[in-house]
Amino acid sequence: MKFIFVLNFLIIASPFAVERKSSELVEVNKKIAAIMGMMHLPGMGVSTLAGKGDYKSKYFKQASSDFVLQTRKMATVKHPDKAFRAFNDEMLKCLKTFEEAVAAEKSEEIRQSWKAVMTTCQSCHSVYHAKQK
Ligand code: HEC
Repeated sequence: MKFIFVLNFLIIASPFAVERKSSELVEVNKKIAAIMGMMHLPGMGVSTLAGKGDYKSKYFKQASSDFVLQTRKMATVKHPDKAFRAFNDEMLKCLKTFEEAVAAEKSEEIRQSWKAVMTTCQSCHSVYHAKQK
């Protein structure tokens, strides 16, 4: 009897649980979209200057520090998927290496670590943002 009561409760309550979960996800996705937008423009500056081999100018440093500042906001995103969190952690790890390379003014390390950061964008997008593939 008790079992049936619990079972009934689960059956009745489960659609509400699903609904709550998806509305949380809608909020998380809005936050992600906003952060992505903020990191996009400084990221383009970094890419353009890196493409010209400029790794040490004040402009490169400005774009890099803006990019790091915005991208680090992804650390505050609480995504329900373990896979998403793994992609995110990997990006934040590569971001730190990039930041350190810029501070040390080591061109080759900057070049490589920027490439690594860009690879992490593509990895996550290939799963979570199919449009960006
Ligand atoms: C952990 C996952 C993840 C990582 C890492 C990631 N992104 Fe995203 N990105 C997303 C998701 C999810 C969206 C879709 C957001 C939405 O519109 O709801 C998105 C959207 C975007 C958009 C908007 C594009 C469009 O056409 O809608 C840009 C620009 C963007 N990301 C840039 C970047 C850059 C640059 C990096 C790497 C530095 C990066 N992203 C890393 C998950 C990620």
